[in-house]
Amino acid sequence: MRMSRRNFLTNDASTTANPFLQGNFAPVHEEVTVDDLTVVGKLPPEMDGMFVRNGPNPQFPPIKNYHVFEGDGMLHGVRIREGRASYRNRYIRTPYWKAENAAGRALFGSFLDPPGLAMLVRLIRNGLKRLPMVKNTANTALVCHDGRLLALWEGGEPHEIRVPELDTVCAYTYGGRLKHQFTAHPKIDPATGEMLFFGYSMFKPSVQYGVVNAQGEIRGITTIGIPRPVIMHDFAVTPRHTIFLDVPLTVSFKRLLRGQPLLKFEPERGARFGVLPRYGRGQDIKWFEVSPCYVFHTLNAYDDGDEVVLLACRTKEFPDSFFMPPTARAGDGAPIGKEFAPVIYRWRLNLKTGCVLEEALDDVPTDFPRINERLLGSQTRYGYAFNINEYNELLKYDFEKARSERHHHGQGRIGGEGVFVPRPNARAEDDGWLLTYVHDEGDGTSELTVIEAQDFGAQPVARVRIPARVPYGFHGAWIPGEMLAQG
Ligand SMILES: [Fe+2]
Repeated sequence: MRMSRRNFLTNDASTTANPFLQGNFAPVHEEVTVDDLTVVGKLPPEMDGMFVRNGPNPQFPPIKNYHVFEGDGMLHGVRIREGRASYRNRYIRTPYWKAENAAGRALFGSFLDPPGLAMLVRLIRNGLKRLPMVKNTANTALVCHDGRLLALWEGGEPHEIRVPELDTVCAYTYGGRLKHQFTAHPKIDPATGEMLFFGYSMFKPSVQYGVVNAQGEIRGITTIGIPRPVIMHDFAVTPRHTIFLDVPLTVSFKRLLRGQPLLKFEPERGARFGVLPRYGRGQDIKWFEVSPCYVFHTLNAYDDGDEVVLLACRTKEFPDSFFMPPTARAGDGAPIGKEFAPVIYRWRLNLKTGCVLEEALDDVPTDFPRINERLLGSQTRYGYAFNINEYNELLKYDFEKARSERHHHGQGRIGGEGVFVPRPNARAEDDGWLLTYVHDEGDGTSELTVIEAQDFGAQPVARVRIPARVPYGFHGAWIPGEMLAQG
């Protein structure tokens, strides 16, 4: 095994009392590059690509408070080819990361902290424009489109990442055409190659929606009005329609100025889903009232006659503690309270009658849902999600047979989102593997687990030992070998 390291820090933010900085939430401060990793089992010889996962990894101890959503982005990648694997992790070097790196300390505060005088002055000066005091961490997710890998954070622009090096190129704004926020969860139509995206404002009650064509050019942006600013983390698309989630996790700077949380779940304000033709204008949107809820992530959507069908992980409770400073929280001491319990759920929105049919499809708390993305926008038989009650298993839903299978990582072995990787020349929807990082809380080791999707409950076909700790993170992506070959 060959290994190289670059160390950034000697001080360690994990020494604070913040649960988001302890255990395997604590950041790592080395960038390492390791070849010829030890593999338990056997990597499929036909597997050729790179699994990359994004997540928070604060470069410096926080000024005061810190939420897991705020850490500087770090990418953890495993390159797999000819049955062998190598690993590297790299910070996403945004301008904000560079400014803090040059200063040798944190410069940006937390949204959990009431604004100080300096922030108030900047708020007033900047009015409804972007907040320069909010750090674009690029820490949430990744998308490959038009031969380009982008690291995403919903409050700002994407950052282009060079592969397979995982070095940051710079912020990516589509030649200056992107002038607003960009979701962490854009959708790529597998038939047309188009990428659909949106961005919501935390100041104005509006959403910008646009389409990037297969050649990587923004083809039009339209504005959608909503009653009040909300956290709109994800959306969904079908070949004909785009679905927006106006769900009541509200944003209020007035509330923050009163010393109350910036973000708050207000189910009494109701929830609505908006359906817009793919190339429609904002005013063409048709809204459907749904039972109050919150949705971080959609699984998929599809057209079915007059209906648009949406599947997502839906929670009807959203504890205030989710966005409170850790010191102000009561409860079980877990970083995310157990009250947060989304389940896989289906809505049928009838465009002709305006009727909504909704039902839970399971009762196991899950999130980070994924599908075989070659079928995005079509009705899939299968879906995959992460058990956020136990954290140590993945679920595979079979919607046709209304059942699920589980893959346990083992006692004390905590996983994350499972990313579906199709087998080359796949012969079925689930012909492929699910990949996720697993951390053993007992011995502190990390590994990449490769699960055969058609033999879901079995032991992983391969466990790639990572000779460095991989902190818990958010979303991952599979970069096909052919894209890596093109650099
Ligand atoms: Fe997300």
